[in-house]
Amino acid sequence: MFLTKEEEKILERGDGFSKCMEILVALGEIFGAERLIPIKSAHISGISYQNIGDEGLEWLKGLKVKFAVKTTVNPAGMDLEKWREMGIDENFFTKQMEILKIFEKMGAELTLTCTPYYVNRPKFGDHLAWSESSAVAYVNSVLGARTNRESGISALASAVIGKTPYYGLHVKENRVPNVLVNVKCECDPAIVGYKVGYEVDGIPIFKFKRKLSDDELKALGASLASTGNVAMFHVIEQTPEWRDFELPSEKVVIEEVDLKFDCEPDLIALGCPHLSKEELLQIYEFVKRFEGKVKREFWIFTSRKIYNEMEDVVNYLKRKGIRVFRDTCMVVSPATEKFECVMVNSGKALTYLPKLRRVNVCYGNLKECIKSAFCSE
Ligand code: F3S
Repeated sequence: MFLTKEEEKILERGDGFSKCMEILVALGEIFGAERLIPIKSAHISGISYQNIGDEGLEWLKGLKVKFAVKTTVNPAGMDLEKWREMGIDENFFTKQMEILKIFEKMGAELTLTCTPYYVNRPKFGDHLAWSESSAVAYVNSVLGARTNRESGISALASAVIGKTPYYGLHVKENRVPNVLVNVKCECDPAIVGYKVGYEVDGIPIFKFKRKLSDDELKALGASLASTGNVAMFHVIEQTPEWRDFELPSEKVVIEEVDLKFDCEPDLIALGCPHLSKEELLQIYEFVKRFEGKVKREFWIFTSRKIYNEMEDVVNYLKRKGIRVFRDTCMVVSPATEKFECVMVNSGKALTYLPKLRRVNVCYGNLKECIKSAFCSE
């Protein structure tokens, strides 16, 4: 890969910046990138103490670097204020705070959300280095920004250098769809994505019977990215780049989605990816129909920013017995492990809760989840 004189000098310094440059060069060489290109922002996932442990913490401590571009971070392993309410122990809290302080010192904005695009919205054509597969799918597909599906480490390296290797989804020709998915049912897009992720590789282009909302596009991408190696999708008549390519000849038809999950939930959890304002309002409107308080544990997750902006709604939901958490989520926090069966409306949570938190899962759409929280049998 071609490096400028300045980039070569960074490689020779023998410090944390050199380590970051080495990561980018190795990545660029594996994928045949010709050069590095500047990025507008970076988003780093995998910052939960649950994920990185003591080894990761030590590695971060030794790095001693600063971020060169706007950098946001994914959810941590706990709500920074309500960690006791989540059942998080003192040691976990201390270690997690240590990790966050290191990121803050490096210059990250402690957004602690997997929906950083509600905080800093990338523009069409912006080059980014984002990890967090659901956010990658959203910004590529819905906003037309350009990022590969980075790992936490490569996103961090890019944040430090302010550049990323030019390959993959940074190149327009690589954003071409390779399979047309005709969705003939009125199925929840989150569940369509869950199924299609298992069945197709590459970049699907969808034909739906109706226009999807922004939240449905978000859920579709998160599900696709969890069951498949998908970093981008198109939707006919909706996403910004769908007209730029010919429709693929390979076709898949989705007539229905049959999910085989069956357990009696002791926790209902919404907010994977983190809830938007619109989703919080939808929950509020539906919750208003039920008398009294929840009959099962009902946890919802959003970003600190949306939480603060929607304080009245949040306070109402809390009065109904719903726990509203920020900074974390049902998958990255160990708090979910004490439950037997978690009911979710998210394909990503269906995929990762059993794998990472070793709990059973069942599916309901948003209304079914809320109903289940208020009606115990
Ligand atoms: Fe976000 Fe956690 Fe789901 S990071 S996408 S809420 S698994």
